[in-house]
Amino acid sequence: MSDLKINMNNFEEIEKSLNSKSLRVCVIGIGRIGLPTALSFAKSGLQTIGVDINKNLVQDINSKKFPLKDEPGYENIFNDVLEKKLFSATTKIKDAVSNSDLIVLSLPTPMDENNIPDYSALTIVASQLSEILSPNSLVIVESTIEPGFIENEMISLISKSGRLKVEDNFSIGVCPENANPGEILHDFTNLPRLVGGINQNITKIITLIYKYVFSVDLIEMENCKTANAVKLTTNVFRDINIAFVNELALLFEKLGIDTHTVIEAAKRKYNFQAHFPGPGVGGPCLPVNSYQYLNSSRKIDKGFLKIVQEARKINESMPQHVINLLEDALLESNMKLDNSIITLLGISYKPNVHDVQIAPSEQIIKLLKEKNVKLKIFDPYFTSEMVFGYKIEKSIQDALLDSNAVIIITGHKEFDELDLQLVTNSMNTPILIDCTGKINPKDAISNSIIFRGIGRGEK
Ligand SMILES: NC(=O)c1ccc[n+]([C@@H]2O[C@H](COP(=O)([O-])OP(=O)(O)OC[C@H]3O[C@@H](n4cnc5c(N)ncnc54)[C@H](O)[C@@H]3O)[C@@H](O)[C@H]2O)c1
Repeated sequence: MSDLKINMNNFEEIEKSLNSKSLRVCVIGIGRIGLPTALSFAKSGLQTIGVDINKNLVQDINSKKFPLKDEPGYENIFNDVLEKKLFSATTKIKDAVSNSDLIVLSLPTPMDENNIPDYSALTIVASQLSEILSPNSLVIVESTIEPGFIENEMISLISKSGRLKVEDNFSIGVCPENANPGEILHDFTNLPRLVGGINQNITKIITLIYKYVFSVDLIEMENCKTANAVKLTTNVFRDINIAFVNELALLFEKLGIDTHTVIEAAKRKYNFQAHFPGPGVGGPCLPVNSYQYLNSSRKIDKGFLKIVQEARKINESMPQHVINLLEDALLESNMKLDNSIITLLGISYKPNVHDVQIAPSEQIIKLLKEKNVKLKIFDPYFTSEMVFGYKIEKSIQDALLDSNAVIIITGHKEFDELDLQLVTNSMNTPILIDCTGKINPKDAISNSIIFRGIGRGEK
């Protein structure tokens, strides 16, 4: 273990080390969020090493292959910091940690098949840190965790070898990540960040470091758990509001009211915040964050957060609603779902990203497979890749050819100008189900398309 020069508990020493660029950073977990984070530290001139268990990722990075092609703005930074030898990657956590002053954890916090949060990546690394962390280091957890996880789990795991004692010879805090995939550079340079430390001194130190690297507003919270609660609250707010408009969409379809028209007009009122209906809520954040809060609530066993539970049920029922719309539209053509050819456009969990984590498309595909449907899938972010066991078509044209119905699942910008004549001319039966709100029902109908859309009351 090398001697660390910087006492990460000492504000003035850290300030000097930033000015002299001698502070050494280790980011553990260099995926979607961790890699841009590590690149930001390196771009600010600090020597940064990224640690990951994914050997291929580490190899790609060290061979100058940029892995996040759908994250605009980072490829140049990546090339630049690699060229300047400010950044490299490794699978060897011990070497990287023992030669660093600041350890940033950007590890995954998914959930298991029973929707129970899985913090194993963090607990494994915390146990490793207990053996290898140099005295006087600072650990910052950026991963999304339940309030109390630092106080109740991380500190005791890092202390368990007996070498380290919090607030004595190691420090810990959080700076929950809140960037949007596809817009990380924008968000890293614009969105305020939350900071919570094990004490006020550490909160100030984290603020100092993050201000130096990211130049955004830092919101200092009184402790780690409050900062983590803010992060979860912002995302769970969205999950609940999307569930609300999804329920409205189901009602308005029956009442003959157009949900998108309602939302656009409602937006005019100053205190209405627009959310839009869709095929479900996916991604590594929103659904997981709701289950994280539900997990916290379950531990207390008082039945709190019923609204979150209901929101999850509603949002998870939306893929079945998409199938219901499809069956209804097929019926208008005297067809059944069994053995039909169905085209899916867009499989990412949200527009304009190459990411299918917890994507509603996976559920839709599962439901269609149960009906022996032949699927043709096109997504411009996955062209020619294998996803969910299907080879993604090369073009929209290929995907539409001879199909009985098309479902637009993800509102990628590439579908903004979807040629409805192409739909009519290429398909066996021109049936279109729109989950995105992109298609004006009147345009579809005037192109002789049988149309259904989530929340579109007018047929
Ligand atoms: N992706 C998002 O939209 C987003 C946004 C905000 C916050 N977050 C949060 O940020 C955290 C990271 O998410 P992500 O999307 O970057 O995940 P990711 O899966 O893209 O990256 C995590 C990386 O950690 C690596 N890893 C796993 N276990 C490891 C271990 N034991 N040691 C070293 N490396 C290990 C993985 O190989 C992977 O490369 C999560 O808590 C997530 O909830 C994600």
